[in-house]
Amino acid sequence: MFDVNKIRSDFPMIVNNPNLIYFDSAATSFKPQCVIDEVVNYYEHLNCNIHRGDYDISYIVSKTYDDTRKTVAHFINAQRAESIVFTYGATSSLNTVAINAAKKFLKKGDVILTSQVEHASDIIPWFNAAEVSGASIRYVPFKKDAKFDLQAYEECFADGKVKLVALPHVSNVMGYIYPVKEITRIAHEYGAIVTIDGAQSVPHIKVDVQDLDIDFLSFSSHKMLGPGGVGVLYGRFELLDQLDPIFYGGGSNARFYQDGTVILQKTPEKFEAGTPCIEGVLGLKKAIEYLESVSMEEVEAYGAQLSDYFIEKLLKLDNVEVYNEGSKAGIVTFNVKGIFAQDAASYFNKLGIAVRTGNHCAKLLNNIIEVNETIRASMYLYNTKEEIDRFVDVIKDTTIEKCVDSIL
Ligand SMILES: Cc1ncc(COP(=O)(O)O)c(C=O)c1O
Repeated sequence: MFDVNKIRSDFPMIVNNPNLIYFDSAATSFKPQCVIDEVVNYYEHLNCNIHRGDYDISYIVSKTYDDTRKTVAHFINAQRAESIVFTYGATSSLNTVAINAAKKFLKKGDVILTSQVEHASDIIPWFNAAEVSGASIRYVPFKKDAKFDLQAYEECFADGKVKLVALPHVSNVMGYIYPVKEITRIAHEYGAIVTIDGAQSVPHIKVDVQDLDIDFLSFSSHKMLGPGGVGVLYGRFELLDQLDPIFYGGGSNARFYQDGTVILQKTPEKFEAGTPCIEGVLGLKKAIEYLESVSMEEVEAYGAQLSDYFIEKLLKLDNVEVYNEGSKAGIVTFNVKGIFAQDAASYFNKLGIAVRTGNHCAKLLNNIIEVNETIRASMYLYNTKEEIDRFVDVIKDTTIEKCVDSIL
């Protein structure tokens, strides 16, 4: 049974800040006590490196680190733990795929199919891949409200040039859940590889990489209750195994010789050169166990409930423009009419409400929704309808004068 009060009591940031309404979980989530305890426990009782020490605590930590691959694989229903690479975040996972794609999968004349809703971390690496490989970028035409247009998407394959599709599962601004199963089905029919930015989906909805038939999936621990400094790159094993490491060094090689020959470890260890964020990986395991104890189905359903509730209330206000009606993943994007988004956010901040404003790193999205700056309220399993009520009361009475006063 989903019990938000019990959940709230698990989060020190909520317990210690009773007057804060945190609506910025899409930027980074709060961490439950069990995750914090795991990180502290590592430093207080198990501090050592992994895969290097011939002593008990090193065996213990190495085993938990390795076991976390199984935990992650189970969480996203990957076929095997060897498909899970620990990186430094979604950005480093996405760059790993893009740098390799430029070398291995793309050539002059090919097309990388992506979109204008992309976060910077899933577009700039593709600009670079295009430059290196001689491929070009093509944007899927989205509907005016930034919803996905499957027909327009399929038409992008007509000339047979699309070799790679890079799209988000959930937009970090619009919060829409895009139809990844259809996206991969069509791409695979045309022989293209699909890499999905799961930074905003994996924390909020049940993601099954086998059912969705995803080739590569990237996400970050810190957005899903885990510590910072850790990300995941999932790859369909046969493809992942073809990639080269981005970094070389200790831990990822089996042997190397004076003549420059290097024998790498197997996948996934070959991708993890250097000392990883060990405490972060241990904490990610706890975060996933926490999410599974609540159940991802419940997390998803609650996120949809909060989104519906919030959007319905905002739509009743004359002074508000809502940009993502029908969004379900806990992201609500709007403006208070006639007020610059950041000025409104400064006013909300004075009243203890934390939101993000601006273009949210999706700097091409204005080509679709024709607005440059928005207010984004992003929620997670610890937010409540009461917080939404309090925020909506504030929004209702927001005026330019109040915003100016809050800045001065
Ligand atoms: C959709 C999306 N992709 C990628 C990223 C990058 O994630 P990170 O900064 O954790 O690498 C973010 C972060 O906000 C995001 O929202």
